Amino acid sequence: MTQLIDFNEENSNTSKNPTFDSILQARLSRRGLLRGSVGTVGTALLGGFGVAACGGGDDAVAAAPAAAALMGFGAVAKSLADVVSVPAGYTANVIYALGDPLTANTSAFKNDGTDADFENRAGDHHDGMEWFGLDASGKPSASAVDRGLLAMNHEATTDETRSSFFLHANGGTSTLPRPAAEVDKETAIHGISVVEVKSTSGKWATVAGSAFNFRLTCLSDVEMSGPARGNALLVTKYSTNATRTRGTLNNCGTGKTPWGSFLTGEENWAGYFFRSATDDTARANNKSVASLKRYGRSQGAASRHGWETGGVADKYARWNNSQSGTSADGSDDYRNELNGMGYIVEIDAYTKTRTAKKRSALGRFAHESASFSAPVAGKPLAVYMGDDSRGEYIYKFVSAANWDAADASPANVIATGDKYLDSGKLYVAKFNNDGSGQWVELSISNAVIAAYAGYAFADQADVCVNARLAADAVGATKMDRPEWCGVNPANGEIYFTLTNNSNRRAEPASGQNAPDAANPRAYTDLKGTTVQAGNPNGHILRVKEATAGSAATSFTWDIYAFGAQSDADASKVNLSNLTSDQDFSSPDGLVFSPATGVMWIQTDDGAYTDVTNCMMLAAVPGQVGDGAKKTLSYTRADGTTLAVDTFVGKAPGTQLKRFLVGPKACEITGLTETPDGKAIFVNIQHPGETTAMADVADPTKYTSQWPSNAGYGAGKRPRSATIVITKNDGGKIGT
Ligand code: FEO
Ligand code: CA
Ligand code: CA
Ligand code: CA
Repeated sequence: MTQLIDFNEENSNTSKNPTFDSILQARLSRRGLLRGSVGTVGTALLGGFGVAACGGGDDAVAAAPAAAALMGFGAVAKSLADVVSVPAGYTANVIYALGDPLTANTSAFKNDGTDADFENRAGDHHDGMEWFGLDASGKPSASAVDRGLLAMNHEATTDETRSSFFLHANGGTSTLPRPAAEVDKETAIHGISVVEVKSTSGKWATVAGSAFNFRLTCLSDVEMSGPARGNALLVTKYSTNATRTRGTLNNCGTGKTPWGSFLTGEENWAGYFFRSATDDTARANNKSVASLKRYGRSQGAASRHGWETGGVADKYARWNNSQSGTSADGSDDYRNELNGMGYIVEIDAYTKTRTAKKRSALGRFAHESASFSAPVAGKPLAVYMGDDSRGEYIYKFVSAANWDAADASPANVIATGDKYLDSGKLYVAKFNNDGSGQWVELSISNAVIAAYAGYAFADQADVCVNARLAADAVGATKMDRPEWCGVNPANGEIYFTLTNNSNRRAEPASGQNAPDAANPRAYTDLKGTTVQAGNPNGHILRVKEATAGSAATSFTWDIYAFGAQSDADASKVNLSNLTSDQDFSSPDGLVFSPATGVMWIQTDDGAYTDVTNCMMLAAVPGQVGDGAKKTLSYTRADGTTLAVDTFVGKAPGTQLKRFLVGPKACEITGLTETPDGKAIFVNIQHPGETTAMADVADPTKYTSQWPSNAGYGAGKRPRSATIVITKNDGGKIGT
């Protein structure tokens, strides 16, 4: 979701954790830039609708011969056009948009706000996505390249002021109570979808009547798993024995397990729930109040869409998180309902009848993606994860079970998930200013956690459910909004996007953070005439585990690249010497291609959008330590200096290049590929979301008409959609 109306901008971390250490230790490694040049290449637009201006080719750096095979395309220029632009020689086609039918009996999508039956249609706000191959006979296949399933997140719906206007004929009801019919549509377009896709004579399309297709919405029955299953914290009217909950919500990043299941992360779920203005008193100010506050729900908090006002039925009542019942344990209301959200959820993409499980051992927070270390037989698996809010943390889960290669293609992936994802150790990251770091275990046996003054943990389930509070207790490092992460298949290093942070200041006020080694920038950037302060453009940090690999408790780190506009001050802002072929802001989605090793970076930006729509870049990154230490100096109002050491990776040069620019007011997010690397699927989320509510009846005033202006579907209302990108010569994507 962009910064337009930003529900990502939760800032509930009021802990006093340090953000800066005072130890200085140089780490050497000078980078050397080789100057060279590359020609400019034209840009192809979606579906061949004309040719855009050439990409700029300035300041290119000579490529190493081995890597040149991968980054041979011409950079796509920054653009404010309402199209998807890809490099010359590539083609992008829309295949799956909001409302597309998932059964043979579902009517075609009219796209005028009158459509219904969304449980049988594509959901809204397409986000993270994974590929599950199918052979010709419809059996799961790791090698199939022309038939498969896309398992996909549908994060949210457009307009966060209780109207969801493009979904409803007249723009919807923006006052309370919300009509049940509108609420029912809105809950149905959240969750995930699985849709079969097929390439016939080189042309990709969804299979609308496929028996594999299904939706799981924010009202579907889901099972709780791991330490929190059966715990008092999960008792609700819906599940008095604390083993089940309803639905998955605000699903952002994804993951795919080594045993072939789909993982989805629940991100900004807290904002969907209502709490009455006197709920702290109703709860007798017990410890649940501290938990609710830490997860962004103070009493009196309005809900994002007012779903709790849809009626008296339980499916509406569950959105009211207030204590209203008389039971001691919460079995007669939804006071504990928030404890059922905020997990990594495991789903069998091939088997729609198998119940999904929420893996509580991986912690509860604003989850983004879940990326596995390369599985090694006889060693535990590591899962890397970020918590996206300002000043939140980076986490790692390490399985208790060692990897058994015989588990690579089990008959029941959820049962295999029980083995690897229900028991293990949850860690949080501490970044030191000498380029080292620690994974600190979040365990009830840690005296610092057990005796934490901010919250009285009862047991390990409580530590998992309130992972943010446990991480506060051990002094984890507050980051600039950790979004997705990915593991480099070439060397196992882990990349984390830190999208931006409007709260970094050299002289922080209350609720703000001083720059530190891992989040070293606090500066101002102009968007038109608007001053944006903090770290408006974000950065990408990477971690190298110590020799113990997945189970390591220490690591080294540096910053792969800092987002910046190319003409920004190279000594303070554009620290990675980004050129106009590669300058970007607010990195969010990050996915490594197993087929090519390319690292795809996607943006969800509101800072550089005066110059360009959101984009996707391809990179062939180096490694931790290939750059140099840098010291940033900040002059305080009293004339004193704050010196912040950081570690800047080697400038990306030609090994980072803009590959795609999206239509207006969209976010680029989610990427998966066929195993041969010759087709990639990418999601375009919420094009046109800046359209004014009053303009819903006038398509000429929509800020975007994509994808209808690319020839896809009925109506002119903009729609979130999946595109497939292929190379015209049949080659791998990114070559
Ligand atoms: Fe769903 Fe934090 O991006
Ligand atoms: Ca996102
Ligand atoms: Ca700017
Ligand atoms: Ca984002």
